[in-house]
Amino acid sequence: MSLDQSTITELILEAKKKAYEEIGNVEAPTPPAEVAWPVNCDVKPGLEGAVAAGSKIGFVDGVRGALVYRGYDIFDLCAHSTFEEVSYLLMFGTLPTKLELEQFTQQVRSRMSILESTRKMYEVLPVNSLHPMKLLEVAMIGADAEDSKAGEKEIDDLQAAYRVIGQMTTATGMIARKRKNLPLVEPDPDLSLAGNLLYTMTGEKPDEISTRLMDIALILHADHGMNASTFTAMVVTSTLSDMYFAMSGGLGSLKGPLHGGANEAVLYDLEEIGSPDNVDSWFKEAQKNRRKVMGMGHRVYKAYDPRARVLKPLADAYSHQYPDIRQLLDTAEKLEKVAVEAMGDKMIFPNVDFYSGLLYRAMGIETLMFTPLFAASRVSGWVARCMEYKENNRIFRPRGIYTGETDLHYVAMKDR
Ligand code: COA
Repeated sequence: MSLDQSTITELILEAKKKAYEEIGNVEAPTPPAEVAWPVNCDVKPGLEGAVAAGSKIGFVDGVRGALVYRGYDIFDLCAHSTFEEVSYLLMFGTLPTKLELEQFTQQVRSRMSILESTRKMYEVLPVNSLHPMKLLEVAMIGADAEDSKAGEKEIDDLQAAYRVIGQMTTATGMIARKRKNLPLVEPDPDLSLAGNLLYTMTGEKPDEISTRLMDIALILHADHGMNASTFTAMVVTSTLSDMYFAMSGGLGSLKGPLHGGANEAVLYDLEEIGSPDNVDSWFKEAQKNRRKVMGMGHRVYKAYDPRARVLKPLADAYSHQYPDIRQLLDTAEKLEKVAVEAMGDKMIFPNVDFYSGLLYRAMGIETLMFTPLFAASRVSGWVARCMEYKENNRIFRPRGIYTGETDLHYVAMKDR
């Protein structure tokens, strides 16, 4: 199938229709207007079931497999919106007017240029030995240094948020190029954030279809409830630390293969499997060794992840022109079928990471850059949630339950 703009929109709306056919008979919950503290909840290991905060930003309906940003269905946002609009929506609570969007975009774009301090730090660091997510952390220091240079003692959260969104895109491009020893590319102020991600990574002005697909991927990854990296960023914020440290916390958490790093891990698994014919034996071996299938399962979704519903047909349609990606995609589709047949009773389905990497790979993006792409999007959710939490801030300080000894007598070194 050749892809054009209207086909992309149709594929998303078809995915929406299919999702609603499947979940239409399950009643949508009505969220409370406020959290009635204290909340009683059953808490399981990994804080499963614990309530950390209330939020009006986004809602993951794990029973129905639905995702909502500020009241808007993710399928509609993917079909009709842009990442800039969605970032505004997450941060300010409403869809922007034309003027508001122009002003927002201007704020972000004016903070996108390559920063000298970040560039210099990348010069001295062993770029190819460090994971790109670590280099994104460095970019947060570079951004902070820019504020200090401007004489800011305490940077305003909103200004920092604009800079974080702009710099995360630029730094992702810088890292991709440094890794290949290619000259850096300054962002083009006439391109969108999605366009600039592709442009600053590849050095070529992207076509409208790749730009739209990247835009959709950014929209899909922007926010996702109280996930590990969002919670980490909020914990840092709750101490009244600063926005850049909060982002560093989020980045560290997102990198792990159980979270954002899964998109990278999926590609390694698919390459290891090699072809659809090997899926059965690979999966059998994985089950025997209790090895998890990356890109599957979710703490909250006990239904098909709506983000995977969007990415799957798009990756499928886009990969037709690339035979090597086709092979990986066929392998992924077979793996999905086999895994869901075997584990569907545990409500394990593909999540957002299962198909995203295939789309990025078809765009010619190196596997190690997949998680930074996730981060370039998720920062919108992080800054929005950190600013929201700070409005009624209280330091996060849960309890641990001590299970060790309490009455030992101190033993002198010579007697141990
Ligand atoms: N492959 C195989 N089995 C899986 C699985 C997967 N991807 N995800 C969960 N399971 C199984 C577990 O083995 C466990 O089985 P058991 O009850 O027989 O021991 C059960 O399902 C519950 O899994 P658990 O790891 O306790 O769930 P969790 O809520 O703590 O973890 C994830 C959620 C997302 C971390 C987990 O599903 C996972 O590791 N997925 C793969 C990594 C991934 O794709 N992460 C990105 C998430 S967007």
